[in-house]
Amino acid sequence: MKTLHISIDQKKISYEIDFLENFSELHSRILSEIAGRNHVFVTDENVFEKTNFFTNIPKEKIVILPAGEEYKNWESITKILDKSFEMCLDRSSVVIAIGGGVIGDMSGFASRIFMRGVPVIQVPTTLLSMVDSSVGGKTGIDTKHGKNLIGAFHQPEKVLCCKQFLQTLEFVELQNGLSEMVKHGILGSEDHFKHLENFSEKFKENFLEKNNRIEIENAVFSLVPESVSIKKNIVQQDEQEKGVRGFLNLGHTYGHAMELLSNFEIPHGIGVAKGIWQSVIESEKRGILQNDIDKKRIENVFSNFNISLENPFSLKEIEEAMVHDKKKKDGKIRLILVKKIGEVEYGNL
Ligand code: GLY
Repeated sequence: MKTLHISIDQKKISYEIDFLENFSELHSRILSEIAGRNHVFVTDENVFEKTNFFTNIPKEKIVILPAGEEYKNWESITKILDKSFEMCLDRSSVVIAIGGGVIGDMSGFASRIFMRGVPVIQVPTTLLSMVDSSVGGKTGIDTKHGKNLIGAFHQPEKVLCCKQFLQTLEFVELQNGLSEMVKHGILGSEDHFKHLENFSEKFKENFLEKNNRIEIENAVFSLVPESVSIKKNIVQQDEQEKGVRGFLNLGHTYGHAMELLSNFEIPHGIGVAKGIWQSVIESEKRGILQNDIDKKRIENVFSNFNISLENPFSLKEIEEAMVHDKKKKDGKIRLILVKKIGEVEYGNL
């Protein structure tokens, strides 16, 4: 079993991210992490129905929320808090979030505010949440004012990534996660990008052409720790996003705007890929991108993952949609620009 260690020195917090093969391993790990403490599980209808994971868990200990970004709201938080009161949780208890980013963010937020803080264990079930949202402690909900504008930092006590969840994912969910992994390569590691580039050739041949899913799941899961460790290194330096953590928003300023304009028809990871591409084009225009080969490599890797980089909206529409985004500094909309694969810098729109 692979393990990564993350330490947030400012808060004297550290935790482990473990990479597990299957549900039986995950079950026993969760039991040993609970270690006799009072607890509740939080999940969504999709995860509950699509996996046999909850078979032996008493139903009264599970909060099952409706699935989807549109339910990332106060009502769902209230359901988690109500269940926590009903089950008599206190600060010595633990909440276990089993789901994608929406479930992880809401469980993290609810456990941050329940009795001023209960520990949370994150068990990400999508590739996207394995490589991104389960690590780093950003939690929150959406409101009519925008995505994730209400929230708090609440680092998990533990993150358990289990390969078997990849079997439950639709194709687009693999693409969503792959986009964020490519993002990590572009912003912080030419080596990781190179590994994804090699993997993308395999993906095209084995998955898109031969539909050889198991091989692809094994290969992608073997790249997850490397991707997570790029994020981990950034979060360790800057938990509260006062400096380098903002680089993790590469592609997100454009991406969030496109998600919003499409009424969330464009899924998050695909929006990020399109957003990265807009940032690359902008970086080239401003003379920041150092060479054309990197642009071609980025285009090629997304194309091998069958992710379209086309932007269906005008720049005017996108700029208007960006106004509510958190990614502003001193009232200006902040962009992440690409110098080369492995290096980015801040810029303003
Ligand atoms: N998803 C970006 C971050 O965690 O900072």
